[in-house]
Amino acid sequence: MTSATETRTRVSPRHGFDSLEDETHVDGLPVTGELPRWLQGSLIRTGPAKWEVGERSVNHWFDGLAMLHRFSFADGEVSYANRFLESRAYRAAKERGEISYSEFATDPCRSLYQRVTAMFSPKLTDNANVNLAKLGERFIAMTETPIPVQFDAETLSTAGVAYDVPGQLTTAHPHLDRATKGMLNYAAKLGPRTSYRFFLLPPDASKPRVIATKPVRQPAYMHSFGLTERWLVLAEFPFVVNPPALAFSGRPYIENYRWKPELGTRFHLFDRATGDSVGPFEADARFGFHHVNSYEDGDDVVVDICTFPDAGIVEDLYLERLRAGKPIAQPNLERFRISPQSGMVETERLIDESIELPRINYGRCNERPYRYAWGVGSDGGWLDRIVKADVVERRSTTWREDGCYPGEPVFVASPDAQDEDGGVLLSVVLDGRKGNSFLLVLDAASLDELARAEVPHHIPFGFHGQFARG
Ligand SMILES: [Fe+2]
Repeated sequence: MTSATETRTRVSPRHGFDSLEDETHVDGLPVTGELPRWLQGSLIRTGPAKWEVGERSVNHWFDGLAMLHRFSFADGEVSYANRFLESRAYRAAKERGEISYSEFATDPCRSLYQRVTAMFSPKLTDNANVNLAKLGERFIAMTETPIPVQFDAETLSTAGVAYDVPGQLTTAHPHLDRATKGMLNYAAKLGPRTSYRFFLLPPDASKPRVIATKPVRQPAYMHSFGLTERWLVLAEFPFVVNPPALAFSGRPYIENYRWKPELGTRFHLFDRATGDSVGPFEADARFGFHHVNSYEDGDDVVVDICTFPDAGIVEDLYLERLRAGKPIAQPNLERFRISPQSGMVETERLIDESIELPRINYGRCNERPYRYAWGVGSDGGWLDRIVKADVVERRSTTWREDGCYPGEPVFVASPDAQDEDGGVLLSVVLDGRKGNSFLLVLDAASLDELARAEVPHHIPFGFHGQFARG
C-alpha cells in the first residue's frame, strides 16, 4: 500500500517542462463524462513546447519555441491537433540546429562581430508563444515583440506577419474595442524620445492608429493593461529598463530590467476618446503580469490585478529552477481603487487563495463591474488547482485532483446563460501520475467536473488560449 506522502513525493509537474517534438492529429479523443451538446467550436492555445535546440537549452519557461494546440468540439466529441508555429525563429532553429533569435531570457551564442552586427539589425523573435487573438476572421499568435503571427485555425499552418505594431515592444493581451470590434493594444516606442502608446487596429486592417501616447524615460515591463468604458489603464510596476541597455548591454532582454521599489506602482489613465492622460496615481511597489478586469465606480476606477510583492517571479520561472521543483512566489488577487479627484489609491487583497492566469466572462463583464474570475493557484509549489474567485463576496472555491496540474481555465458562456458564471471552463491538465495531459471541462459555477478528454501525450505547460465558436 502506498501512503499519501509517498504518492506526493513521486508525482511531480516535471513533465510539463519536457519538450514535445511530435505533431499529431487525433479524431475522437476518449471522453469520460458528458460534454454539453451546446459546446461547438475550438479551444486554440499557444505555448512553449521545445526548450532544447541542438546541444543547448534555452534559459526560461517563456523562451520555448511556440506550438499551437487545438481542441475541437462537435456533437459531444473532441478532436485534437498540435503543430509548431512556423515562425522564423522556429525555422532557423530547425535548419541550423541552434538558437538563432533572441528570446525573453536567452540570446543566441554570438561572436563579438555578430553582436555588433545584431545591434544594427536586431533579429527580433517572432516566437509567438504567449497568447492568441481572433480579430475579424483572422487568428493571430502573439508575444511581446512587434511581430504578431497570423495562422490558419483549421490546418494550424503559419501565414505571416498579421499587422504592424507602432513600437518595439507590445503585449500579448490586447482588448476588444466593443464599438469597432477592433483590437486595442499597448506598444512602447523606444528611441531618443521613448513613449508609451496605445493603438487601435480595425478588424480587417494591418495598419493601426495610435490613439494615446505618453513620454517615459525608463519604461516599465508591461505584460497587460486594463480597460474601462472610458479609460485605458496602465499599471507601471517599478521593473524598468533604460532603453539603450536593450540595444547595447549584450544581455538577454529581460535581464536589462531593474527592480526599483522606490518608484512604487504608478497608474496612468488614458481617455479612450481623446487620448488625454491623467496620473500618475501612486501605490506601493508591486509586480504583476495580468490585469483581471477594470471598471468605473462613480468617479473611481477599480483595477483588479494578480500581483506579486516584487519581480522575483521572473527569476522563479527560469527552467533550471522549475525543473528542480524550487518554490515559486504566490500571486495575490489585489484591487486598486483609484480616485482621480483625490489622487489616492486604496489597495485591498480580495481572496486568500493565490490565483494566476485569470479569466473572466469577458464578453459580458470586461470594462464593467463583475463578480467572478477563474484562474490557477497553489499553496507554494507548482500550480495545482483551479480557483474560482467571487470578488463581491471576497471568497473562493477550488477544484483539484492529486497529481494533476491544470493550466489557464478558459471560460465559455452557455448560449442561454442568465448568470455571469453560466457556462464551462476548459483547462488543459497535466496528469503527473500518468505523464500525459487531458482536457478538463468543468461547470464554471460549481467547479463540478462534466467531462475529460485524454490526449495520448503530455502537453507542455503553456500560457493562454481562446475559444472560437464553431
Ligand atoms: Fe499572459
